Amino acid sequence: MNTTTQPLITIAIDGYSSSGKSSMARQLAKTIGYRYIDSGAMYRAVTLYAMQHNMISDDLAIDEQSLIAALPEIDIDFQVDGERQYTLLNGVNVESDIRSMAVSNRVSPVSAIPAVRHALVKMQQQMGQQKGIVMDGRDIGTTVFPDAEMKIFVTASPQTRAQRRVAELIEKGIPASYEEVLANVVHRDHIDETRAESPLRRADDAITLDNSTMTVDEQNRWLLDRYEECIAKSNR
Ligand code: DC
Repeated sequence: MNTTTQPLITIAIDGYSSSGKSSMARQLAKTIGYRYIDSGAMYRAVTLYAMQHNMISDDLAIDEQSLIAALPEIDIDFQVDGERQYTLLNGVNVESDIRSMAVSNRVSPVSAIPAVRHALVKMQQQMGQQKGIVMDGRDIGTTVFPDAEMKIFVTASPQTRAQRRVAELIEKGIPASYEEVLANVVHRDHIDETRAESPLRRADDAITLDNSTMTVDEQNRWLLDRYEECIAKSNR
């Protein structure tokens, strides 16, 4: 697609964990030539850092003070390699580590710490300064880019999301049980929706997509249609 004559916009895609929003967001960014940022990967990278530095105990208590003090030492970046994008934590590729169940089970409480959110939101806003970005997460349309020209909120049933996540993990060679993943999905929904600091919430001006019964191709087409509508509106 020739996007050179189109205005650059900011695209915020929020929604529940394992709703497929990252795949949709990544595909849209690729089709329209935008930068893609997976903000969940950034919260996962901070969680991994905390685990590596023994800041999370076995009973999941977090040494918040040490983590907050370490935030300036945590550098997160993304590296694009052909079709794939890797998350770098202080220069090290941690893409597969941040997807493990160990990180998934600890990331929600870490992402509920206000100082962690402030630091990452600031980084995300800097990444989006030039527009031409698709970012997915939980608070992109509400907090990170409240003025985004295009906002989407993706949802699907917890069972559908757990099935998708199991398939994704197994494909990556990470062992996973459906019951464990479903429990994790439901638990994370609860923490994400009820935390005091920017909880998961649909922005008032977001378009909702329930993709429970859609194929990947249908979702991608739907999203591209919304983008084209949005561009047509800004050209009017
Ligand atoms: O999208 P994900 O499952 O990789 O996100 C991992 C966790 O990070 C999830 O439990 C919620 C949190 N998160 C967040 O609080 N805000 C964001 N913008 C993105 C993710």
